[in-house]
Amino acid sequence: MEKQAQLREYIDQVAEWAKQLEAWWRGHDHPDIHYDFNRLWSRLEEQEEWTDVEVYELQGMATQLYEKTVRLIQEQQLDSVADRENEMEEQREARVPIGRHQLPPLPYRYDALEPHISEEIMRLHHTKHHQSYVDGLNQAEKMMQKARETNQYGLLKHWEREAAFHGSGHYLHTIFWNNLTPNGGGNPHGRLLEQIKEDFGSVERFKRHFTEAAKSVEGVGWAILVWAPRPGRLEILHTEKHQFMTQWDTIPLLVLDVWEHAYYLQYKNDRSAYIESFWKIVNWRDVEERFAQASRLRWKPF
Ligand SMILES: [Fe+2]
Repeated sequence: MEKQAQLREYIDQVAEWAKQLEAWWRGHDHPDIHYDFNRLWSRLEEQEEWTDVEVYELQGMATQLYEKTVRLIQEQQLDSVADRENEMEEQREARVPIGRHQLPPLPYRYDALEPHISEEIMRLHHTKHHQSYVDGLNQAEKMMQKARETNQYGLLKHWEREAAFHGSGHYLHTIFWNNLTPNGGGNPHGRLLEQIKEDFGSVERFKRHFTEAAKSVEGVGWAILVWAPRPGRLEILHTEKHQFMTQWDTIPLLVLDVWEHAYYLQYKNDRSAYIESFWKIVNWRDVEERFAQASRLRWKPF
């Protein structure tokens, strides 16, 4: 191939590369980079015959542009990491003290979900039902705090039940309000869509399973799509009522099995002795690790 044709081919490749790079930069407001592109384009467009020296100069311009791009991307990444860290720091500081939960505001107007859910339902559901969960949880937390301070655990079972019932009510409704929007419907996108397809086969199958789960709840309750960190899968669960001595939206750190199969052969009916022994074998390093992982997950406090 003739030398000039070879150079021409190379120049075309540079132009193609520059076009892609510029397209990537479109939308990024950075006068410097646009000035550099303009210089490169006028050089590429004006020149017809190329010498080795001129090609060498062009390579220099391209290299400069490339290095500048890499630097700017790194700076942007650092900025966004810093922003994220600030945000996380703010969230770490924001916490709900014992007995100080609040009713979160609805993220839309009471009539916003009509005709699907009426204004009347939304108003009652939010201001009466959800508010009573918040009040009940606050009271249960304060009473358990009092029990710890006075070493009086006579009513613990009652307050644990109350904390489970009202706590689950408060946390699940807080998720529920945000799970809904007047502009909703359709299908999920992105990573969630991929995960749903992987775990349920298709969005249609997922929706069918979730629908059936919701229909089959006996009496009152919830259908719940969860992420299970252990198998790394999405799963659909449902819960009757919503408590059974638990609070949804919490992560277990330390658990003690008190089913009889866990101690009966050795301790017979002396569960207390078994629990005493448990404290001698707790693996706090494991609990610390679970806490370190779990506490990275922070939602806006309410
Ligand atoms: Fe409800």
